[in-house]
Amino acid sequence: MKKLNGPSRRNFMKGAAGVTALMSAAGASGALAMGQSRGGGKGYNFDDIYSRIGHNSVKWDAAIARYGRENITVPMGIADMDFKQPPFVVKALQERAKYEQFGYETLPDSFYQAIIDWNKDRYGLNIKKEWIVTSQALKPGMIATMRGLNPVKGKVILQTPTYSGFTGAIHKAGMRVEMNPMKKINGRWHMDLEDLDKRLDYETKCLILCNPNNPSGECWTADELRALGDLCISRGVTILADEIHCDFTNKGQKFTPYASIGEKYAEHSISYRSPSKTFGQANLKVAYFVCQNEDLMNATMIGGGHDAGCNAFGLIACETAFREGAQWVDDLNDYIDANFDYVVDFINKPGNMPGIKYSKPEGTYLAWLDCNELMKKVVTPEYMKSYHDKMRDQGRRHSGLKPEMALGEWIVDNCGVQLNSGNSYGIGAEGFMRMNIAVPRSSLKTALENLDKACKKA
Ligand SMILES: Cc1ncc(COP(=O)(O)O)c(C=O)c1O
Repeated sequence: MKKLNGPSRRNFMKGAAGVTALMSAAGASGALAMGQSRGGGKGYNFDDIYSRIGHNSVKWDAAIARYGRENITVPMGIADMDFKQPPFVVKALQERAKYEQFGYETLPDSFYQAIIDWNKDRYGLNIKKEWIVTSQALKPGMIATMRGLNPVKGKVILQTPTYSGFTGAIHKAGMRVEMNPMKKINGRWHMDLEDLDKRLDYETKCLILCNPNNPSGECWTADELRALGDLCISRGVTILADEIHCDFTNKGQKFTPYASIGEKYAEHSISYRSPSKTFGQANLKVAYFVCQNEDLMNATMIGGGHDAGCNAFGLIACETAFREGAQWVDDLNDYIDANFDYVVDFINKPGNMPGIKYSKPEGTYLAWLDCNELMKKVVTPEYMKSYHDKMRDQGRRHSGLKPEMALGEWIVDNCGVQLNSGNSYGIGAEGFMRMNIAVPRSSLKTALENLDKACKKA
């Protein structure tokens, strides 16, 4: 059987010879301007409520199973969207189903080309086919790289607050988490490289960069990325650039791919991408990573034992989305951007939402709400005790409970809104809650109004 997508040495050498960086920054600004001139599209509709109840949705059905149908009005937890799949993707999947055969398949050139074109058109990146490897999701690729790079239980750096799933991935790879807390200055989180410098030692082989950052939404600038990269390269630390949220930027903001900032940065990194957030295809199980460095690729594929196999439907969905989805994503970005404006205006209206602070992020569809004052007010020692007893009596987890978890429960009980509690996002996330705003505006309005009423009563 043809090797699906593992790169051969010959291809690698061919790709590397005299080539500029994996992703040339040259075209990036022009391409970005194109990405930013969005709007006025086909008018894809994101306003319709499309029920996900009864379809085993983690966001809806798992929340309902946990809290009861009557207590869940708008679940705004796990990062997937409540919008329907783009119609052209559904059509392609229906066409594929008509061919009633699902045996082993190779990956067609058109699959790679769709990824290459998407990155070239939107970010000015020059990716070679042989630098792309598929993965069933983003984390398995990352886990394989960590395993391959760090065979003796080394440390992996996380710049916190950051995506909660990294911790589990690092543990799965047999590594330890070392947190490098970021600093919040004038409402924006900043990397703390002085602190990072102290943490890099002989046991540290990689750092996971989250760009744009989940949960706080920073789209890291080229200067920030270069400063981080220079430090990591000088200390022999490979950057694993998680860019899963890259296609979501608010108006006037710019996503800078890590590998676009210069050849040496591309050489010392792997970039992990996926259509799963961009198009809402998480359970179609296709992601990909890009790496131009043969040693890093070997570490991932051979040392880490990465399995590049993906399913037929996911591959079709991914290819079709990247080939035909530019307008859909532009329209979606406009919608999300307007949702963010709605949230910011609502929360910051004088008298509204006492106890919650918020300002607009640069990217992602996640609102990282500072609920410290609210938490202080409602999560009293008595409330914490009653929360613990309720968890115990309901047979739910009741050890290691954190105040943010109690606040999450309070918000469900009082608003019918489920948010993600900050405690799992690392140091710096104390008192924060994450709200997924990739929902129809009417649901967003309901959620905010419910939250507002409860905050005013608290
Ligand atoms: C930053 C980030 N990385 C990775 C993932 C998980 O991706 P996957 O399900 O493809 O492993 C998520 C999911 O929310 C995420 O936000």
